[in-house]
Amino acid sequence: MYDFKIAATDKPTLYRDLAAALEALVADEPDGIANMANAAALIFESLADLNWAGFYRNVGGELVLGPFQGRVACNRVPFGKGVCGAAAASLMVQRVDDVHAFPGHIACDAASNSELVVPIVRDGVLLAVLDLDSPLTARFDAEDEAGCVALGEILAPAI
Ligand code: SME
Repeated sequence: MYDFKIAATDKPTLYRDLAAALEALVADEPDGIANMANAAALIFESLADLNWAGFYRNVGGELVLGPFQGRVACNRVPFGKGVCGAAAASLMVQRVDDVHAFPGHIACDAASNSELVVPIVRDGVLLAVLDLDSPLTARFDAEDEAGCVALGEILAPAI
């Protein structure tokens, strides 16, 4: 049984503990869907003030819903559309303090106000994006971005 309790209150420790837990979770599992599913559960349980945490996979140049925790979400997001689509098209992290001010934002859950999307790339190819949504405005800062980029680097060889 896994019993990860990520309880640190300072962000560097929180993300260090989260990275160690994620590494342990994916270490012995070759299946990418299983690894994304456990990653979504771990992140959703460990980070405060999230209403959605999960993945959209690159399936033939379109983002398709993957494992997640939270409310029912849009199945498909075209590259270039919304926050996830911007991350997929640019391969750049998108950290958005107010999604309602983001051109083309796709409102899957009206409760979402800020969003962090991290592209997961292996050998120059986009595999998926990690998408975190929060009901708080400006929930994600530079430490969250760095911490989640590190989580994406752990996942890149594992999904
Ligand atoms: N709001 C996202 C769509 C995905 S959901 O939030 C889960 C976007 O604009 O990319």
